[in-house]
Amino acid sequence: MQFLGSHVLSVDQFERGDIDKVFEVADTMAPYALRQKVTRVLEGAILGNMFFEPSTRTRVSFGCAFNLLGGDVRETTGFQSSAIAKGESLYDTARVLSGYSDIICMRHPESGSVAEFAEASRVPVINGGDGPNEHPSQALLDLYTIRKEVEHKGGSLDGLRIAMIGDLKHGRTVHSLCRLLALYKNMHVTLISPAELAMPESYIEQLRVLGHSVSISTDLSQGISGVDIIYSTRIQEERFQSKEEADLYRGSFRLNQAIYTQYCEPNTVIMHPLPRDSRADANELDNDLNHNPNLAIFRQTDNGVLVRMALFALILGVEKQVDKYSRPVNWYCSRSNQ
Ligand code: NCD
Repeated sequence: MQFLGSHVLSVDQFERGDIDKVFEVADTMAPYALRQKVTRVLEGAILGNMFFEPSTRTRVSFGCAFNLLGGDVRETTGFQSSAIAKGESLYDTARVLSGYSDIICMRHPESGSVAEFAEASRVPVINGGDGPNEHPSQALLDLYTIRKEVEHKGGSLDGLRIAMIGDLKHGRTVHSLCRLLALYKNMHVTLISPAELAMPESYIEQLRVLGHSVSISTDLSQGISGVDIIYSTRIQEERFQSKEEADLYRGSFRLNQAIYTQYCEPNTVIMHPLPRDSRADANELDNDLNHNPNLAIFRQTDNGVLVRMALFALILGVEKQVDKYSRPVNWYCSRSNQ
């Protein structure tokens, strides 16, 4: 894939070599994300961060990633504070905002909306999640995390055993992750969900056609035994007709330390794109896992900054100049990365 000046709308744009490239550049961003060095390589550049659905980590980590490269961020959140609420089209919004920005990140509740916006944009657009469809930067940071976690334990991405749990029908993170995993060899994917919230057939089909093993289960304890990675997800309440309908499924699969100890192999890594729904009737990842060293959810969020910095650097063509514009930090840094 050609990164320079390109949109990132779908994981289908990536081949294995492209992913290696993103990960290689992401590794070089660690001293900046860890506040050991500062770079001004994107000084003067502006990111338009447009989030029309709730977001904490995707929005803020895109913004921080851009700031850490020396660029500035302008933000719009929610339809009500944007002229879309006055009837402005995506086309006009894209024409206008791309005149103010060097690159745009966008989240929108409708599948395909970010691609439509990108068509009218004069600058590269990164999909920060379009409805239940795709979330490519999340899938890249998830895969980056999986690779780090399994390599740390002497394993590799090829031959990975992963269980995806929860709302696999509406969850865009698992959709995009399935497509990336399909690029590797000999995956063992277990899909655990209520029957009504099963992974759409096209994702299963793609994995199977490429020779991967896919098993489908409605039983948490059985599904999580014998895997390297547990990838839990939230019931995507906002995609249901009503809260009552979502309530039917909330809390279907709860992982806590006792279940983990009883059914998982030692060192099974626990992931979640977050937010985990910590309300009592959901609690898909219990707080009693917080001290489990295999809980990788906050390593995931930290890695998100590295991967998003890499995407910006590659798309804007500065990946080789980051160090040239760097200097040591000059403030007291109390940040712990544990
Ligand atoms: C996810 C999303 O928005 O799709 N969150 C995220 O970006 N990390 C998952 C979710 O909201 O459940």
